[in-house]
Amino acid sequence: MKSLNIGIIGLGNVGTGLIRCLANNRKIIMSKSDREISVAAICAKNKNKKREIDIENLKWVQDPYDITDDKEIDLVVELIGGEENPAKSIVEKSLLNKKHVVTANKALIAKHGHYLALLAEEQNVCLNFEAAVAGAIPIIKAIKESLSGNAISKVYGVINGTCNYILTQMEKENKEYTEVFKKAQQLGFVEKDPELDVGGIDTAHKISILASCAFGTRINFENVLINGIQNISLVDIKNADSMGYKIKLMALALRSDDGIIQEVEPCLVPKDNIFGKLEGGTNLVMVEGDFSDRTYYMGPGAGSCPTASAVVADIIDIANGKKSSVFGINANLLKLPINKKKDFPASFYLRFLLIDEPGTLAQLSSILGKYKISINRMNQLEHIGETAPILIVTHPTTKNLLYPAIDEISQLNICKNEPVIIKIEEF
Ligand SMILES: NC(=O)c1ccc[n+]([C@@H]2O[C@H](COP(=O)([O-])OP(=O)(O)OC[C@H]3O[C@@H](n4cnc5c(N)ncnc54)[C@H](OP(=O)(O)O)[C@@H]3O)[C@@H](O)[C@H]2O)c1
Repeated sequence: MKSLNIGIIGLGNVGTGLIRCLANNRKIIMSKSDREISVAAICAKNKNKKREIDIENLKWVQDPYDITDDKEIDLVVELIGGEENPAKSIVEKSLLNKKHVVTANKALIAKHGHYLALLAEEQNVCLNFEAAVAGAIPIIKAIKESLSGNAISKVYGVINGTCNYILTQMEKENKEYTEVFKKAQQLGFVEKDPELDVGGIDTAHKISILASCAFGTRINFENVLINGIQNISLVDIKNADSMGYKIKLMALALRSDDGIIQEVEPCLVPKDNIFGKLEGGTNLVMVEGDFSDRTYYMGPGAGSCPTASAVVADIIDIANGKKSSVFGINANLLKLPINKKKDFPASFYLRFLLIDEPGTLAQLSSILGKYKISINRMNQLEHIGETAPILIVTHPTTKNLLYPAIDEISQLNICKNEPVIIKIEEF
């Protein structure tokens, strides 16, 4: 059978990992593919850049559109990144030219995934993006294929290794966010635009992709509630620890009869829970199906080799003629998701810095009471000058009630800081 000719656009972390994997594991890959997989052309921005791989024997193309338009190429691997052009037009052009596409680009899929899926299915070609979420972990395949007989109600994940590394190191090294963030940047762990990582946007891209595959709904990145980790202080990490919790940047996609919720936010999670124990850059995803119950997927969520591993699996599927709908069901049938108006109830960790005067606590608790928020635990910590730090753990309530209550409390003259609100996920 004719070989599957692939064109690789982007030779950075993932692109070099891909070339290395195809070369190092050639025999294994050949034994699993019905067709030989051959790298017909490669492309990156700068031909003269020093790379960690040998590209001497590969055909270099300077213009990526020479790959998308090459009649001999069957599959284009897009590894440039970015939600707009050139990545978007490269994928679009490839699909229009009836070429399969494999990409690791979560930003692109989160923003234009539905349009590109319609295009791929119309052209009868594949658009595979296993590497876009959680690196080496085969989570897209698990949701789309292995759990396809389930009504999925929940997907929970810690899916940004950089944020988990920063939160872990803050606790281990007893250091504030800014210091650990700087170190992570020096080590090259943070994206060029740090907001993508620490601002929670990368996590939101990924959870919106998982939600679409899990719930059979159109990708809806715009409606993900996003809070990053920039405002997490060491004191909250320590308080959480003393109460039996860790702080993790959780991605949550939940479905009920009246709609879906997609959230990315730092949460307190029990430290003896599998999410609480997760350290460093490792990713973890939990999927809850009505028949499967909870299944867990853990592994390296980024990096040259782990991400390349997922890209190669997508390529082998295409070599073997394996075709599935881009998001698990035909793109025409993906419903527009309804955003659930009301929150699922949860407990919250609250930290206030109150002026140290009689009656302040009474004012605070009366406002909480007015919004039917009851206090489960309360603790007054050692005074800081003229102020008293107060920790409160609420009984389950909703953000719809909690946020207006905190707004009202903030408007009183008793608060010396912006109150800290962190959701508690008990699982
Ligand atoms: N890194 C990870 O761990 C990881 C994990 C999961 C998913 N991803 C995703 O994988 C994709 C690639 O990430 P990466 O980390 O490999 O990025 P990267 O290291 O920044 O590499 C980007 C590559 O794209 C090339 N490029 C940029 N603009 C180009 C253009 N106009 N034409 C042709 N080539 C161009 C660059 O060329 P030069 O080399 O000549 O500059 C470089 O080789 C992104 O979508 C990212 O989100 C990455």
